[in-house]
Amino acid sequence: MPAPFGPKSATVSPSSIKKERFFKSFLLSTSTVKFFTSKILAIIIIIIERKVIRKQKVYQGGKMELFEVIKKRRSVRRFEKGKEVGRDLVEKLLAAGVEAPTAGNLQVWRFFVVLNPELKKALARAAYYQEFVADAPVAIVVAADLNQASKGYGERGKNVYALQDTAAAIENILLAAYDLGLGSCWVGAFDEISVSEVLGLPSHIRPLAILPIGFPAGEGRKPPRKLLSEVVSWLT
Ligand SMILES: Cc1cc2nc3c(=O)[nH]c(=O)nc-3n(C[C@H](O)[C@H](O)[C@H](O)COP(=O)(O)O)c2cc1C
Repeated sequence: MPAPFGPKSATVSPSSIKKERFFKSFLLSTSTVKFFTSKILAIIIIIIERKVIRKQKVYQGGKMELFEVIKKRRSVRRFEKGKEVGRDLVEKLLAAGVEAPTAGNLQVWRFFVVLNPELKKALARAAYYQEFVADAPVAIVVAADLNQASKGYGERGKNVYALQDTAAAIENILLAAYDLGLGSCWVGAFDEISVSEVLGLPSHIRPLAILPIGFPAGEGRKPPRKLLSEVVSWLT
């Protein structure tokens, strides 16, 4: 009579033990294979990601110190005639733009690089005949995707963060332009509907600034700033 408790091995034949061992080692080897496959896949994904990131242009600055760039940048409204701005430089500016801080990392900014002379003229007209917009070899229109902004943060996303994100990107572009020997000017005075028509923008893409870009024709005067004491309050 078999014992009520204890190992059943007494009833197991040697061939079934062999089968069990084989089965266990098979299971072990498949899980090992799975483990290594997932690791290899993860490594492949990391390598691909790094390659993609490396392919994307990253802003590499010029020779100036940051504070020098901040201090010396000025709005440029006259550009050297016939001196084109290469695509590589424009891409550097855009790469600097997208390094700006952005609410929730939503990156609602959108950039429209306008090279077409007729479109630039139309933009200048939409900007109440600020002709230097048409004179610049390149005009970048910075816009915000309001749908994406409000999906992320509702009214505040649409009315505040979208404007702040794009403003931060614009400032990066202006500083990078100066650093690279280019000139630009933040143009905010324009009729939004006309600019949207010129670029064929859908209603949820709001144009917020036009940045004419070119090589400066001479140095303009930097308008003086108020004293810090006029604009700063220290709360102690
Ligand atoms: C929101 C905003 C809108 C602006 N719009 C215009 C504009 O439509 N036309 C223009 O010539 N300059 C425009 N400017 C540039 C300012 O006139 C300029 O920054 C200011 O006079 C200080 O000069 P600076 O940029 O050389 O330091 C704008 C600047 C900002 C920040």
